[in-house]
Amino acid sequence: MGFVLAAAGSAIGLGNLWKFPYITLENHGGAFVLVYLAAIAVVGAPIMAAEILLGRKSRRNAVGAFALLGAGKPGGVVWTAIGYLGVTTGFIVLSYYSVVAGWTLRYIVLAFSGALGGLAHHPGALESFFGGFLADPWAQILCHTLFMGATVGVVFLGVGKGIERAAKLLMPLLFMILVVLAGYVATTPGFGRAVGFLFRPTFADLTAGGVLEALGHSFFTLSLGMGAMLTYGSYMRRRDSIPRAVLTICFLDTFIAIMACVIMFSIIFSFDFEVSKSSTILFTTIPVIFYKLPGGAMISGLFYLLVAFAALSSTISILEVVSSYAIDELGWGRRRAALTTGAAIWVFGFLSALSVGGVDALSKINPIGRASTAGVFGTLDYLASNWFLPVGGLFIALFAGWILTAAESRDELEEGNGPLAGSFGAWRFLIRFAAPAAVGAIIVSVILGAEYQ
Ligand code: PFF
Repeated sequence: MGFVLAAAGSAIGLGNLWKFPYITLENHGGAFVLVYLAAIAVVGAPIMAAEILLGRKSRRNAVGAFALLGAGKPGGVVWTAIGYLGVTTGFIVLSYYSVVAGWTLRYIVLAFSGALGGLAHHPGALESFFGGFLADPWAQILCHTLFMGATVGVVFLGVGKGIERAAKLLMPLLFMILVVLAGYVATTPGFGRAVGFLFRPTFADLTAGGVLEALGHSFFTLSLGMGAMLTYGSYMRRRDSIPRAVLTICFLDTFIAIMACVIMFSIIFSFDFEVSKSSTILFTTIPVIFYKLPGGAMISGLFYLLVAFAALSSTISILEVVSSYAIDELGWGRRRAALTTGAAIWVFGFLSALSVGGVDALSKINPIGRASTAGVFGTLDYLASNWFLPVGGLFIALFAGWILTAAESRDELEEGNGPLAGSFGAWRFLIRFAAPAAVGAIIVSVILGAEYQ
């Protein structure tokens, strides 16, 4: 339970609650959702199984796992470099993810203090507030600092007392808030249209860019490519089943993403809301709509609390990738590792916190495409999401599929699960051929500079 909740907590984050709804809206729902679901099954789930198996088999961090399992195999030290790439990616991603996550803290205070209501009732007021907030360096640094502080605090406390306990508390709370909100929107007139938009595919609406975006997002949303699932896998018990854990995590992550869409779209459709800039709906449109409903302050307060919890359980997993490297490879104690790596990422994050003002920052956290070099924030995200995560994921798939022998991976996947029979063959086919081909397509498309609009 602890492992599955913590890993699901890593997967469920801003990717589900902020990004997935807006890219689904941009890609006209239905067919895009179907491709996304296929990508989770064909690429996401097999690579997640690979990451967890590498972690549990080696009982090491991302660098140590490749060093140990790759020793004496073809490619040797190249594989260790993939571990270092993962740790570097974790460092970079956390530095800006924490900035965006920090915005949710500002909105929780705004909602519960009643100030959000005032802003939401005046057209345009929220946009100017949000713009001013992004451009205020002290506010950005404060929110980033608070979020990093919470993240470091949990990792400092350790795997059992910190990470698992936080996940056991946060995940059920998140579900509860989501269920309350879903129950609420089910009574709104836009609910039926929202469900139809999501589940009635019109293939004429689907573009090649949309297919690639769905594929790339499946990666980001499942926390794959930087060794986060590998690191959590290293703490997993041998008597637990990896295949069952993978299916549960993928299901929960997808369920939350779909629920987020149902909630947001029901409200948008109920009020025929004009969504001009869909990437900002989480911070500028959603509150306006919440306040059209009775109990707006309560609903929006709960909603941003949910987003903050989801983001926290993701940032914990990213810091753990970096900290566990320092613990295992540099021989540091956990407290020293959490504080030192956390402080370094916090300081590095200033560059992002100070660069978000004046740019459309919300469109920058993007696993693939929409190349942006606007500001440090945009550049870091562009590098991490478009290059490091897909490249990391590709090599993880290649390592698990081609470097580990069938017997090595089979033994680990069957440990705690029992005989896998035909499904092992299916996994091995996906990890050797389908997943590398699909991830390779993302990388090639980025090299060719494909446009995703
Ligand atoms: N999966 C997280 C989300 O959807 O917000 C983001 C993330 C976490 C990406 C951890 C990568 C990672 F290693």
